[in-house]
Amino acid sequence: MTAREDLPLGVFDSGLGGLTVVRALRAALPNENILYLGDTARVPYGTKGEATVVKYASGCAAHLVRAGVKAIVIACNTVSAVAPERLRIDLDLPVLGVIEPGARAAVAASTSGKIGVLATQATVSSGAYARAVLACSTRAEVVSFAAPLLVPLAEEGWTDGEVPRLVAARYIEPLARAGVDTVVLGCTHYPLLRPILEEAARNAIGPHVSVVDSALATAEDVVRFLDARKLRREAQTPGRIRIQVTDLPRTFSTVAARFLGADAEEVEQVDL
Ligand code: DGL
Repeated sequence: MTAREDLPLGVFDSGLGGLTVVRALRAALPNENILYLGDTARVPYGTKGEATVVKYASGCAAHLVRAGVKAIVIACNTVSAVAPERLRIDLDLPVLGVIEPGARAAVAASTSGKIGVLATQATVSSGAYARAVLACSTRAEVVSFAAPLLVPLAEEGWTDGEVPRLVAARYIEPLARAGVDTVVLGCTHYPLLRPILEEAARNAIGPHVSVVDSALATAEDVVRFLDARKLRREAQTPGRIRIQVTDLPRTFSTVAARFLGADAEEVEQVDL
């Protein structure tokens, strides 16, 4: 029987954007086995209603539990915003999300306590980042805006040049007007556009602005969690990364490599 610590971490997202979290996990925990599920047949979640997102997320999590994972990492901000309580009630496994780590990192980075969040419409409407930030600091204030165009730009690989620059500047503008000193990239896709979002934030807010990537903050949280529970894989060999998707589009390899920062080697299509 496989020792518990050798079981994979189960990571899931609405699509391939969550591979930015796998990339961060891979860097922080190179020996961990990871089973990633991307619900590519039903992406995007960020434009859907809460009940639908909860239903889809429950199906993804149940699939990972059946596959045998030691913990679940919700790589999707939208799912982390609306579904973690349901999953924690339903599953007999630890469930970690991306919102609390991102919120904690933002509070630590902010001097003024004014924090701006860019995310999907569903994440913004849920108010989850504001709640998570307030749980860390009652002094902090959050303004959130939906930045829907950043998702297709990242998928298309339009991460540089005139068009993404204009879009980034347009989305940063209301945050600058609100007087934030910290910007949270509250969506799996936005880390790919980090350089131009950072540039837009420096131009509109000033050189002191902090940009927080919830993928990196989540990986740090998972490290702490595994160590506290003594669940870190001990073998000093590189972990295996398996990727499962509910639809395998023609562009899969290119898009996946963009988010993962490496070629996706073990890939299979599954039915939930
Ligand atoms: N994964 C989603 C998130 O982080 C973005 C893509 C979607 O809308 O499903 O919110």
